Amino acid sequence: MNAVTPTGPVLPAPVGLLAELTHRCPLRCPYCSNPLELDRRSGELDTATWQRVLTEAAGLGVLHVHLSGGEPTARNDIVEITETCAKLGLYSNLITSGVGGALAKLDALYDVGLDHVQLSVQGVDAANAEKIGGLKNAQPQKLAFAERVTQLGLPLTLNSVIHRGNIHEVEGFIDLAVKLGAKRLEVAHTQYYGWAYVNRPALMPDKAQVDRSIRIVEAARERLKGQLVIDLVVPDYYAKYPKACAGGWGRKLMNVTPAGKVLPCHAAETIKQLEFWYVTDHSLGDIWANSPAFTAYRGTDWMQEPCRSCDRREKDWGGCRCQALALAGDAAATDPACSLSPLHAKVRELATEEAAETPPDYVYRTIGSNADRAVRSPLTEEAPQ
Ligand code: SF4
Ligand code: FES
Repeated sequence: MNAVTPTGPVLPAPVGLLAELTHRCPLRCPYCSNPLELDRRSGELDTATWQRVLTEAAGLGVLHVHLSGGEPTARNDIVEITETCAKLGLYSNLITSGVGGALAKLDALYDVGLDHVQLSVQGVDAANAEKIGGLKNAQPQKLAFAERVTQLGLPLTLNSVIHRGNIHEVEGFIDLAVKLGAKRLEVAHTQYYGWAYVNRPALMPDKAQVDRSIRIVEAARERLKGQLVIDLVVPDYYAKYPKACAGGWGRKLMNVTPAGKVLPCHAAETIKQLEFWYVTDHSLGDIWANSPAFTAYRGTDWMQEPCRSCDRREKDWGGCRCQALALAGDAAATDPACSLSPLHAKVRELATEEAAETPPDYVYRTIGSNADRAVRSPLTEEAPQ
């Protein structure tokens, strides 16, 4: 199914909707990709609005809905919202920390047709995991939650965000995934935006650690073929080319915040000059086709050199706009994670320097005013645009 703009061009339909149902979360992970200014409960969309948004998403051609947050099970209506997905034929994926009220709601979610669970694990060693997540007694809750997921026969993916505080546990994450009966494990090196950008010196591993983790994953993929799929997201700062962030800007995904603001990626709000539309004012189809935030970096017309004449421009779509802003001070610049960017050498240098220093304490995510934690580009010293 396609969305048609008023002027005629036909857009591909979005395939995925990330529904950030709430920013509330019992965990306080320092690598959280949520914005520094978290939405409060009082500003969250109500049940009926989420149900209308899901209906519009199905009409647009969306196939997958990721029920996320924060912690989505913190919403009292998570079962109703999940049931709506099932009735609309939308594949639902619960992205959860597995703590708080998650286990108590799991059976009801299964009963109304939840399709898949993605459980975050911060570490393998309980003390380390709970230090990273900023919550005592979280690990036993997660393990009990995972056990119930597999008892119910729901497919389970474990998500481990990797950084210098747990990169020594990559083998352990793989063993844990096998032990818990997960079908898939994401070994996702930290992407540095949101809270992770603030915490970058505390999180950045060195190149030798990254290379070792990649070798471990590659060997495990061979060993566990047919039993466990392992997805590997390599850290941009040490990569040759960037990834197609969010599958390319405005090409595949829509991200709806707890308050109903619709973003092309989860960190897009860091690009202050963009105008975002809300589901309370516009239909999802109108936003996908016409919202200034979605059209700003869609396609290739906005690109500067070296992206503009690069033969990879329709593979990675210039990398990550949010990272370009954070590192180059210009959201339309080539992502400095790309080896063809004039800033790439500085990015590597910065990562190497930070990884060599003693890590500072984590800045844990909190709801409230965090404007003082906004950081300027370390490469250009220019204020983000
Ligand atoms: Fe991708 Fe741009 Fe780098 Fe080419 S120059 S590989 S399009 S980020
Ligand atoms: Fe926004 Fe990459 S996180 S484009």
